[in-house]
Amino acid sequence: MSTSDRVVLVLGGAGTVGSGIVKALLDKGFKVAVISRDASRLDRLRTFVSPTTQQNLITVVGNVGSEDGAEEAKQALLEQVGKVTDIVSSLGFSWWQGGPPHTQTLKDLHWVIETLLFSTFVSWKAFFPLVRDTAESSYTVITGGAGEKLLMPGTGFLTVGAASALAFCQVLREEYPEVPCKLNQVKINTGVATPERMAPGYLNHLDLGEAVAALVERGSSSHTVFAVSSPADLKTVLLEGNL
Ligand SMILES: NC(=O)c1ccc[n+]([C@@H]2O[C@H](COP(=O)([O-])OP(=O)(O)OC[C@H]3O[C@@H](n4cnc5c(N)ncnc54)[C@H](OP(=O)(O)O)[C@@H]3O)[C@@H](O)[C@H]2O)c1
Repeated sequence: MSTSDRVVLVLGGAGTVGSGIVKALLDKGFKVAVISRDASRLDRLRTFVSPTTQQNLITVVGNVGSEDGAEEAKQALLEQVGKVTDIVSSLGFSWWQGGPPHTQTLKDLHWVIETLLFSTFVSWKAFFPLVRDTAESSYTVITGGAGEKLLMPGTGFLTVGAASALAFCQVLREEYPEVPCKLNQVKINTGVATPERMAPGYLNHLDLGEAVAALVERGSSSHTVFAVSSPADLKTVLLEGNL
């Protein structure tokens, strides 16, 4: 199947990580669909992608983090695009530094888990059936290395939320060992930013986007965790497919 016949749904496509992936997929000739709760984020995304690819970007205002919202958004999307061949899930948030646990409330923890885990689960449950039984299809989940270590004092709940997303990906791999769809995870062990907000050691979201788009295009591996800790890893791990 050529890229122009493939429709990639990028969950969280209006975010920092997701927008880089959306742009790169469009540049490769894919059609790309993005659902966001915020229409103005979708407008900004449209102006961010290459002008010649804008007609291949399909946007839907919706909430993939609630069961009803995800179903509604799915119907609205399918009416527009007919089919989805690939999904990249990049839901969550970039950073959380609310303080050490004794200063936090249950509400804070709820929000962190809702944003990193519940939305990932709810949207997976709604959208995975669209690609599950097709060998040419893929479902790729973006996760963060914060799940394995405390990034700095005060980021503890980020570690809790990110760890729950890592565990959910492990559950998917082990509960669905023989699913035809290519099921992969990209685990980013460093910060990701737009060119204006880069810090030492960070990945440019455009470079990360190119690497993830290459992974989707290649569609060869499954049940694999691609760990990315530096810009060099993007080339060796994703672009060249070395594991
Ligand atoms: N940025 C980094 O430095 C970094 C580093 C390593 C890993 N990561 C991982 O990359 C992923 C995305 O991070 P990001 O930096 O792109 O975050 P971001 O800019 O905040 O974007 C996150 C996206 O998730 C969506 N979202 C959040 N909560 C939701 C909910 N309850 N229901 C539905 N959608 C929800 C938002 O959708 P709306 O458009 O609807 O608001 C937004 O588009 C996360 O899993 C994060 O762990 C990020």
